[in-house]
Amino acid sequence: MSANPGGFAARVTTTTLKRAKTAGERVVMVTAYDTPSARLADEAGVDVILVGDSLGMTVLGYPSTLPVTMDDMLRATAAVVRGASRPLVVADMPFLSYQVTHEEALRNAGRFLAETGAQAVKLEGGRTVAPLVERLVATGVPVMGHVGLTPQSVHVFGGYTVQARDEEGALELLADCRALEAAGAFAIVLELVPAEIAALISRELAVPTIGIGAGAGCDGQVQVFHDLLGLGGRAPRHAGHYADIGAEIVRALSAYAADVRARVFPAEAQLTHADADVVAAVERSSGHPAEG
Ligand code: KIV
Repeated sequence: MSANPGGFAARVTTTTLKRAKTAGERVVMVTAYDTPSARLADEAGVDVILVGDSLGMTVLGYPSTLPVTMDDMLRATAAVVRGASRPLVVADMPFLSYQVTHEEALRNAGRFLAETGAQAVKLEGGRTVAPLVERLVATGVPVMGHVGLTPQSVHVFGGYTVQARDEEGALELLADCRALEAAGAFAIVLELVPAEIAALISRELAVPTIGIGAGAGCDGQVQVFHDLLGLGGRAPRHAGHYADIGAEIVRALSAYAADVRARVFPAEAQLTHADADVVAAVERSSGHPAEG
C-alpha cells in the first residue's frame, strides 16, 4: 500500500486492507510495543502496527509468549495507539485471554478497543476459534486470524517449526483459513509456512494474508520490530536485517560511559550556572565553599 509520507494520511482501516488486496498492493505490518517505536513506524509509512505478544520476548525477557498478561498487552497497546495516527493498530490477545470461554474472550477483546483505542485484535487458531471469531465480529470487534506456527502452542508443536509441509498439513491449513474468512476475519497471518503453500492459500482467499516466514506470495508481510532493526538477540532466519541499531546503542552508551569516567561529560553546553552572588551567599551561610 502506498503511504503518503509527510502528507495528511487517513487512518488505515480493515476495509483499506481488503481494497489493497483487490488492487494487488502489498500490506506492510510491523510490531511495536511503545509510543516512540509506533511513531517511527508511522513516520516510515507502515500500514499496520501489531502490538504482538512477542513483547514477552522482545521487551519483557520471557522465553516465550505464554507468560504475557492482559495487563501487559493493554498498557503496551495504549502506548502504541498514542504514537500511531495513520496505521491500523491491532492488539494481540494473550494466552488464556480468549481460550477459556467466549464470554471472557468477548470482554477481553472489547477492553482493547474500549480502553486502548486499538482498532482490531488478533488471535491464534483456525477452525477451533472460528465460532469465536464470528461472535467477536458480530459484536463489533474486527479480528485478524493467525495460523501456521502459532507461538502460544509452541509446546504442542515441540518448537518453532515450519508447519503444513505435507499435503495433509497444507489442506488442514487451507481449511483453517477458509473457516476464519467465513467467520469474518479481515486478514490472516500465516507464520512459518512453505512459500508455495502460503502463495496458494493467498490466491484462494478474498481477505489479505500477512506472511512471516511464509514467502513473497502473501498479500503482506509482518516482522518483529527488534528482529528487523538488530535490537534483540539472534533474529530468526526469515527476518530481514535492515539495521544494526543494537550495536549503535552499545557504541553510544560506551562513549557516554567513557566521557563520564574521564569527567568530560557534562560539558559547558549541558550546564546551568548559578549567579555569583547566590553562590557567595550559600558559601557564607553553609560555611563551605560551593563546588563548581
Ligand atoms: O506476537 C507477534 O509478534 C506475532 C507476529 C509474529 C505475527 O504474532
